[in-house]
Amino acid sequence: MTSTTTISAIDFAGYTIPRLGLGCMALSIEGRPAYSTAVATIHSALDAGVRYLDTAWSYYLPRYSPQSHNNASRLEQSDYGERLVHEAVTTWDGPQQDVLIASKIGWSRTVDQYGTYGWQADARPETIIAQAKESAQRLGVESLGLLYSHCDDPNVPYEDQMGAFRQLVDEGVARTIGISRVDNHNIDVAHHILGKALVAVQNQFSPSYPDPLHTMDHCKALNLAFVCWSPLGGFLDPVDAGAYDAFKKVAQRRGISYQRVVLAWELSRCETLITIPSARNPHEIQDSFAATQLLLTEEELSQLP
Ligand SMILES: NC(=O)c1ccc[n+]([C@@H]2O[C@H](COP(=O)([O-])OP(=O)(O)OC[C@H]3O[C@@H](n4cnc5c(N)ncnc54)[C@H](OP(=O)(O)O)[C@@H]3O)[C@@H](O)[C@H]2O)c1
Repeated sequence: MTSTTTISAIDFAGYTIPRLGLGCMALSIEGRPAYSTAVATIHSALDAGVRYLDTAWSYYLPRYSPQSHNNASRLEQSDYGERLVHEAVTTWDGPQQDVLIASKIGWSRTVDQYGTYGWQADARPETIIAQAKESAQRLGVESLGLLYSHCDDPNVPYEDQMGAFRQLVDEGVARTIGISRVDNHNIDVAHHILGKALVAVQNQFSPSYPDPLHTMDHCKALNLAFVCWSPLGGFLDPVDAGAYDAFKKVAQRRGISYQRVVLAWELSRCETLITIPSARNPHEIQDSFAATQLLLTEEELSQLP
């Protein structure tokens, strides 16, 4: 018997999109492929049917400068990730106006003298306003379709961070807002301040990170989309490989990749869930996008977490 899962397009941030988008981080930061491969991967995603591209102001590789203070990183700012997405969409020969590009602000990259990369929150209201305007410029739009707060900056009250996003909506710099790396309290604060402009929560979710803070249920109750990041366990962090064993068994029986089974399982969890796997070549995103057509049977679902 097939599952009752509805795997279809969703109305989201003013667009109608399939519930599987392309996360563009792995095309833009450490380990990224050649620029031409990155563009080809995005084109391949769009050709397959992807209509949601997820990028960020901070998807670039910082370079260490010896002039920096205290061995802390000083960054050579770069707009690599956003410009990549902009160029890929504007050189694609399909319906460009149907593509939702989301960006995130308030988190920057760091690098030390040994070449170790890191991330650093900076969500002061003035940074939020400035980065949002830069993102709009880099993406070639007057108004961003969807703009995320990349993370909660512990040095700035969340109310003040959300107040800056409210201002961006009121000024027309962003049409809709998402928040990322948040707990249910953050969600309530953002919902209170942003009202209907808040459309999405982007949190980590995968078999190896099954939403321990129960934010997916909270999103459902508030009618917010739950966008899951690192849906395949991530490409930089070590994962608990054992968490994928059951998926591998189902995949083996069907003769497909276990990644496709993982993504179909995620889509089956919640009708307002959107999953955004990374890919570093055209084959990976084509394989992943096929998850939108994969209906897992009830028997298969019963063998999965
Ligand atoms: N909001 C946040 O703070 C946050 C944090 C992290 C990520 N994100 C977003 O989430 C997106 C995805 O997360 P992620 O990049 O950490 O990783 P992920 O999607 O969990 O894992 C992606 C890795 O799995 C491999 N892969 C993908 N599709 C595959 C397929 N069909 N078959 C085999 N292998 C496949 C690729 O690695 P190989 O190329 O090595 O094969 C890819 O880099 C990012 O692009 C970004 O947009 C957001």
